Amino acid sequence: MKRTIPKTTPRADTHQVDQIPRRRLLMAAATLGVAPWLLSACAGAANTSGAAAGKPTSGPRPAASRRLGPFEVFPIGLGVQWHPGRGPQGVVDLYSSSTTRQGGVALIRRAADLGVTLFDTAEVYGPFMSEELLGAALQGSRRDRAVISTKFGFDVDPATGERRGGVNSRPEHIRQVVEAQLRRLRTDRIDLLYQHRVDPNVPIEDVVGTIKDLIKQGKVLHYGLSEPGLQTVRRAHKEHPVAVIQNEYSMLYRGPEAEVLPLCEELGIGFVPWSPLGMGFLAGTVDATSRFEEQDFRAAVPRFAPDVLPANMALADLVKAWAARKNVTPAQLSLAWLTAQKPWIVPIPGTTNVAHLQENVAAASISFSAAELAELNAAVAAIPIRGARLSPAVLSATGVEAPPKR
Ligand SMILES: NC(=O)c1ccc[n+]([C@@H]2O[C@H](COP(=O)([O-])OP(=O)(O)OC[C@H]3O[C@@H](n4cnc5c(N)ncnc54)[C@H](OP(=O)(O)O)[C@@H]3O)[C@@H](O)[C@H]2O)c1
Repeated sequence: MKRTIPKTTPRADTHQVDQIPRRRLLMAAATLGVAPWLLSACAGAANTSGAAAGKPTSGPRPAASRRLGPFEVFPIGLGVQWHPGRGPQGVVDLYSSSTTRQGGVALIRRAADLGVTLFDTAEVYGPFMSEELLGAALQGSRRDRAVISTKFGFDVDPATGERRGGVNSRPEHIRQVVEAQLRRLRTDRIDLLYQHRVDPNVPIEDVVGTIKDLIKQGKVLHYGLSEPGLQTVRRAHKEHPVAVIQNEYSMLYRGPEAEVLPLCEELGIGFVPWSPLGMGFLAGTVDATSRFEEQDFRAAVPRFAPDVLPANMALADLVKAWAARKNVTPAQLSLAWLTAQKPWIVPIPGTTNVAHLQENVAAASISFSAAELAELNAAVAAIPIRGARLSPAVLSATGVEAPPKR
């Protein structure tokens, strides 16, 4: 297997911005309508804002890292989306996997020790439990190497963790959530704070204004949006540069290719694909006869329904065939396909299993020739996926535009 040495994303004229002081850099970025870290990236290593926690670094970058908006991270991250399972120690994922609290903490530490730097979680995962386990796992030197990303935005009762239904991005609620997140994560700053879903009742300018205050206070370093409407991204970016967009993206769902990835490229925004293994489907854990228990999220997802699953297995078969051809596993092939699409994409596979974690991390070393990638992309495109990617209720919260600011 060949080691991929990802390139960074210089797109503006790199040489002219060398030595530009920070204020002029910001002004130049505003004029060009791009994120300041794009120009900063171009200004050479001494000027990059690419440290794991978003702080300036100097010297050469490690070979196995890539730029994600303002961050410099390992090409494969880890998703921590866990919920209470059986008994006081039980932990389950959204599907059919489980571990214990101790096992989860050990897995996160193992990921950090293998070089993973981007860790993804959210207030609503648990609720609270995933942030608590991530905070317990990432202490000391592991914390300093990590980019901790978490999310606010669903309406969770801060006292009980009860999900009250719907979304809530009211400024006072965001402030309250962030304070609690800092406590659970046992840290003084959130490296990347996402709005989990756009709130149709709160202008994005008010949301970003609140986050800007948190950035000024040093409690948040950068922010992102998950499954936002495109105009909302542009409006948010005008208020303060959006660092990262996190949407579903994989060989199973290629929706972001039409408009979202071009917008990220235009504005210098990094992209994090969620469910990069297609909820396990692309890792080869589903077959035509698979049926999902009621508590398994996939039970309500139309593309996994019994009437369409046999047809959709054509994609899983293609992935298996390509994995054999490249002498890798289906999960590795699927993650490498994502990182090959753009040098600023960092997938966050979820796992409860240390062997799977190690396998996923090793996908950072897999590369494709241009001809291989073109052939694989065309083969994937030739397989129509039947059934929607999410249930109607979950889907209705995606692509939402925030109301205008009056
Ligand atoms: N922003 C959002 O709205 C949003 C939505 C969903 C998810 N997310 C984020 O995205 C992360 C990942 O998404 P996801 O967990 O939904 O889906 P995923 O990463 O596509 O798939 C996870 C499933 O794949 C299995 N798996 C992982 N590695 C494997 C391997 N090497 N071989 C075989 N099976 C493997 C896992 O089981 P094992 O535990 O057995 O490995 C689990 O069942 C989440 O943790 C969360 O942080 C964000």
